[in-house]
Amino acid sequence: MKISVYHTPEEIPNNRLPNCAVVIDVLRASSTIVAALEAGATAVQVFSDIDQLLEASDSIPEEQRLRAGERGGKKVPSCELGNSPLAFTPEQTAGRQLFLSTTNGTRCSERVSKAGQVVIGSLNNRQAIANYLLSKNPGNLWLVGSGWEGSYSLEDTVCAGAIIASILANSNKKLSQLAGNDEAIAAYSLYQQWKQELPELLSSASHGQRLLKLKSKEDLEYCAQLDIIKSVPIQKKPGLFIERQPNLIEKTCEALGRLVGRGPSQPQTKPQDSEPTAPQGRVASEPAVKERVVAQAQPQAKPTKPPKELISRRISQ
Ligand code: MLT
Repeated sequence: MKISVYHTPEEIPNNRLPNCAVVIDVLRASSTIVAALEAGATAVQVFSDIDQLLEASDSIPEEQRLRAGERGGKKVPSCELGNSPLAFTPEQTAGRQLFLSTTNGTRCSERVSKAGQVVIGSLNNRQAIANYLLSKNPGNLWLVGSGWEGSYSLEDTVCAGAIIASILANSNKKLSQLAGNDEAIAAYSLYQQWKQELPELLSSASHGQRLLKLKSKEDLEYCAQLDIIKSVPIQKKPGLFIERQPNLIEKTCEALGRLVGRGPSQPQTKPQDSEPTAPQGRVASEPAVKERVVAQAQPQAKPTKPPKELISRRISQ
């Protein structure tokens, strides 16, 4: 596996595509897509153009759809929802298809839609993404930040570094062997610097500052949470994402992991990525943060509380 990081979709090479691309937009499209599928959305269809979203969703009965649009961090008038992951409660979302258009994240997804495989990555589902990539072992992997209107986004790069850190913790390779470009090494280093202070990093980032001015502090707190959701949104066809179901081998490994105490009952240790590698065939996880939240919201059992309540419980640990 060779991991290349691109800070924005504009930076990716024009003449080739990877075996697998991870679309990252921590603030907030990726976090929203992950939250919506976790809350029971049947699928998420992304659009870079609002008019195309409205036209495509018109054919779906109102009770079977949700339309969410954001521009400049604000909700688009023609859609019921903006782009806050906290808006997607199970009561409001379950059983509905989400039609989503945002300033950058949906455009990023479109730019890589023809890659061999496309998944949606955020801090919230970082470990799930790393586990998926370790199980698939794509030869050429791109971690693509969405940025902001073509500019660099700190939070997307730190998320890319977090994914690399989990892969590295479960690989017998060195970073220099895994990295496909300098940006991958820089992203890993940025994460190592900030991994204990992710909420502070998101609040310092330019888009975090923009969202704070728009009174979206809770969104930042939620989006900064590491490994709180285990789902992997995977592209079923260009622009259409569903929740990937783990295959039988992964389910068996997960069950064995719990049996031998690698699941939520593990004693708490300081959150770090360099956990001892799990016994052969299983992926070690970053137990401290993952356990703290997984014990509260078994991702497969669809959280019964709206994310807002889960946030306060998650953050107050
Ligand atoms: C984006 O697409 O850049 C973000 O999702 C914008 C936002 O929701 O704040």
